[in-house]
Amino acid sequence: MEPRRWLAAAVLMCVLVLCSGRELKAKDAPTYDPALARTLAEYTSAVYTADLTQLFTWTCERCGDLTEGFEVIELIVDVKNCLQAYVGFAKDMNAVIVVFRGTQENSIQNWIEDLFWKQLDLDYPGMPEAKVHSGFYSAYHNTTLRDGVVSGIQKTREVYGNIPIMVTGHSMGGAMASFCALDLVVSNKFCPQSKIVGDWKSSMIGHNPWEELEHLKINFRLKDVKLMTFGQPRIGNAVFASNFNRSLPDTIRMTNSHDIVPHLPPYYQYFPQKTYHHFPREVWIHSVGLGSFVYSIEEICDGSGEDPTCSRSVSGNSVNDHIHYLGISMHAESLGHCRIVTDDRILQYNMDTAGNIVLFKQPGLSVNELHSAQ
Ligand SMILES: *[C@@H]1O[C@H](CO)[C@@H](O)[C@H](O)[C@H]1NC(C)=O
Ligand SMILES: *[C@@H]1O[C@H](CO)[C@@H](O)[C@H](O)[C@H]1NC(C)=O
Repeated sequence: MEPRRWLAAAVLMCVLVLCSGRELKAKDAPTYDPALARTLAEYTSAVYTADLTQLFTWTCERCGDLTEGFEVIELIVDVKNCLQAYVGFAKDMNAVIVVFRGTQENSIQNWIEDLFWKQLDLDYPGMPEAKVHSGFYSAYHNTTLRDGVVSGIQKTREVYGNIPIMVTGHSMGGAMASFCALDLVVSNKFCPQSKIVGDWKSSMIGHNPWEELEHLKINFRLKDVKLMTFGQPRIGNAVFASNFNRSLPDTIRMTNSHDIVPHLPPYYQYFPQKTYHHFPREVWIHSVGLGSFVYSIEEICDGSGEDPTCSRSVSGNSVNDHIHYLGISMHAESLGHCRIVTDDRILQYNMDTAGNIVLFKQPGLSVNELHSAQ
């Protein structure tokens, strides 16, 4: 009898574990993939490379490992605003990857101090009551980045098909990545006007032109956009966060231990309608255990965006925790400037009147072909 009882107890234990496991999933529906987080952290680390040729040809020190074989299609450098982003094709993931660089100032400390005073000063277009910070918004919407990124995505998808898009970034780059992902999902002006008119004209014969135009507009509202950011600041109010949550339900916002930036601009618990509010879903990397049994876990937080038991449960006082994620460096090898190093191996580049540069190539062309084409 005794062994049977043990068996029954064991079966009961298993059932309990399975049930609670299932319940957790049904309630929380976390879509966190730790392997994807590591891969995207490496893509994000690479965007800090100063040598644009190495970055563009994917030969930089940080290009490789989990990101081996990546093909950069477009590299955008906004010289005036000191911003950088790239778009390309990851064969192993069969996805477009879009990566934004964080702030590149001499002193990250100044930028962080400045974050304390950011006001919610802009109504997000077409989203009643949703407020955001105009500086973060403009860094994506009001610079060369938006056009460059959109054109890079289009070029990649023209060749590789309507594959999923993964948007990522660290710090200020995470804020820009968030506005980009939202833009791709909600904006019906996503496609440059000339392209819409061109496609429309060539396909209008025998069709109702207005129907055709509507059809095209809807098509430019992209599906299959995913966002994962690292150590990003808050960018909008609670209404914005809940709209964001609806538009991009699978978003993951990584925070690391005592990283100061996710605590900024501040969240004022007693003024929930007036304050900044993170969108979900936070995944908090932190250490647990005691003595020699300390290990790092990635904790999936609740759906509120402001889980009091995650990074908000500790003081955000570390810059060092801001510049290392999952053991991967998230800052430039050399300190802050906007150095442009390039050579004539790059096939094509455009410079606008403000001196901004977009490097691009035809998707599918290999780096060796790129070299021999010169
Ligand atoms: C975008 O830039 C233009 C010109 O530089 C400026 O007038 C406008 O206020 C900016 N918009 C936002 C939202 O900052
Ligand atoms: C986000 O969406 C989930 C699922 O619909 C919901 O439970 C959660 O409360 C939402 N969070 C916010 C901040 O809107």
